[in-house]
Amino acid sequence: MPAQPDLMSLRVQAVRYEAEDILSYELRRADGGKLPSFTAGAHVDLTLPNGLVRSYSISSDQSETGRYVIGVSRDRCSRGGSEWIHKNVRPGDFLAVTPPRNNFALAEDAPHTVLIAGGIGITPLLSMIRRLTALSGDWELHFAVRSRVQAAFLGDLAALAGDSPERVHLHADDEHGGGFLDVPGIVRRAPDGTQLYCCGPAPMLAAFEKAAGHLPAGRRHVEYFANDQAPAASGGFEVELTDSGVTLSVQTGATILQTLLDAGIEVPFSCTEGICGTCETQVISGVPDHRDLVLSDQEKAANDVMMICCSGSKTPRLVLKR
Ligand code: FES
Repeated sequence: MPAQPDLMSLRVQAVRYEAEDILSYELRRADGGKLPSFTAGAHVDLTLPNGLVRSYSISSDQSETGRYVIGVSRDRCSRGGSEWIHKNVRPGDFLAVTPPRNNFALAEDAPHTVLIAGGIGITPLLSMIRRLTALSGDWELHFAVRSRVQAAFLGDLAALAGDSPERVHLHADDEHGGGFLDVPGIVRRAPDGTQLYCCGPAPMLAAFEKAAGHLPAGRRHVEYFANDQAPAASGGFEVELTDSGVTLSVQTGATILQTLLDAGIEVPFSCTEGICGTCETQVISGVPDHRDLVLSDQEKAANDVMMICCSGSKTPRLVLKR
């Protein structure tokens, strides 16, 4: 079972149908009290009774202090996360939830914001649009789905767009002869100074990264659902832990995280695939072999922190503050 400090037991207040195969879950404290605050783009991790830990973005408004609303898309290839939630979680149930974390933060002072969503990727972008609307920010959304019946939160989006419905561009592939959203064109047309955000399936993110690669890193932002890079598990290096005062040898087939857990060292972790940021660890010396999708290229090059669940070492020894 992953070590997750500060797990909260939150009650499922409501379950709503949002679109085909997409339900939203409203989570509250049983006593109705305040929850830890979050900022637009944040996610929480759910530890399910079947032992799985899954991250879900928050779609609700950061100014609401008493609830988190998450969107869950039933993945037909589900390994027990979304499928289990859809089948089993009902209003009144309790779920183990971490406090929110944000690896996909919104730049609130942008002159213009372009948001590109694919499918359930709309969830964090919806919380961003709520925030931008509260700040009277200028935004446009490009929302791609395979079919219109799979577009979640359309009512919320229409309300947020208000008198400017042209801000929301819905692209249903089956209404365009199966053609995908023109991500490069959207990026190309973005005015100077625009902040761009993309959350969706891997091909969409790849198209975005390619189209926006020339922009400064601080102006292009992505959030992944899954990491298709293999974890670094070739071993053959040592890890010195300054806080624990031990040095461990990372063997072939093991990650740093697994090596630490096997040695009885407590480490917070969640997704185990480099997308949630829970296992972030400070690097004192040595050069990590980064395999995560949390850190930007700049952050990786800075050599200050690493995700030990999936990243390894390019040097024979890593010294970590842990
Ligand atoms: S546990 Fe999620 S990034 Fe390492």
